[in-house]
Amino acid sequence: MIDINKAIESLDWNREPRGLYEPIEYTLAAGGKRIRPTLALTAAEAVVNGGLISGDAIDHVLPAALALEVFHNFTLLHDDVMDRAAVRRGRPTVHTKWNDNTAILSGDQMLIEAYKLLSDVPADKLPKVLKWFNEMATGICEGQQYDVDFEHANQVSIDDYMMMIEKKTSVLLAYAMKIGGYIAGGNEAQQEALYQFGLHIGLAFQIQDDVLDVYGDPKTFGKAIGGDICCNKKTFLLLTALEKADGDTKAELLQWLMATDNNEEKIAAVTDIYNRLGVRAAAEDVIEQHTSLALQQLDRLPQNNATGQLRLLAERLVTRKS
Ligand code: IPE
Ligand code: IPE
Ligand code: MG
Ligand code: MG
Ligand code: MG
Repeated sequence: MIDINKAIESLDWNREPRGLYEPIEYTLAAGGKRIRPTLALTAAEAVVNGGLISGDAIDHVLPAALALEVFHNFTLLHDDVMDRAAVRRGRPTVHTKWNDNTAILSGDQMLIEAYKLLSDVPADKLPKVLKWFNEMATGICEGQQYDVDFEHANQVSIDDYMMMIEKKTSVLLAYAMKIGGYIAGGNEAQQEALYQFGLHIGLAFQIQDDVLDVYGDPKTFGKAIGGDICCNKKTFLLLTALEKADGDTKAELLQWLMATDNNEEKIAAVTDIYNRLGVRAAAEDVIEQHTSLALQQLDRLPQNNATGQLRLLAERLVTRKS
């Protein structure tokens, strides 16, 4: 498999004005798990006989894989403004290191760069890839809007939450898989299995992200702990706590949701309520369920080295720390 980090490093941001391009370079050099391009490339390998892909075929998938990663990083710049998040990948976020305007405009340029990369997809495959990429991008914007709307909404159900995370997070993983498989010549049934794999992995991934936002180690997670609690994000943990709590505990939790100062105290108190109600275990059950639904999709694909990698990747995401 091609070294995706090297391919990202080889993107050239040595352009003027520096105020626009330096934050892009800074963001892409900060690492990250590179899950989306890895999924796209592995999905491509999975549908090729024997799970081995030739140099030419890789060259065809690579532009889409890079476009997906640059697009993902664009969403992070804007997401960190929206969530007022100060740290990502163990470093100050772009809006903290520079300012909001920089995060907005460099983010916009990254979106354009993503489409420039995408335009190198082989011409016969480009119409469908572009259509799916746009569906994915619109899904993320809709999901992000629900995410902020829900912060101030009182009646958010677990079903609403699942719909929201499918849009803001899962569709990107799902389309990464489908696009990779399609460009490499996978048939429609395989494309659908890849899409469903990505969708379920994505749901598990976002619930795990919610868990790590409370229970993660900031050193490995690379983000500040408790950010979701501070802004009343309707995460899987909070919604499950609201569902499980009764009497005094419910009143206590509702009281904390109204608190806007003293974040440290709020994070400690809400985490304590989560611990008492056992919401982490409830989240981990649902993570397991979606991981197993994702793994089932692999039975509909050729059994080769690449599908083996996908199995490993799904299993590792469940216990991830970053
Ligand atoms: C962060 O994505 C946004 C979510 C969907 C939770 P990642 O956890 O994949 O972030 P990086 O790219 O590895 O930093
Ligand atoms: C991720 O949601 C969704 C997008 C970035 C589109 P989060 O807001 O939970 O992501 P992190 O935790 O900041 O990475
Ligand atoms: Mg965020
Ligand atoms: Mg967010
Ligand atoms: Mg998060």
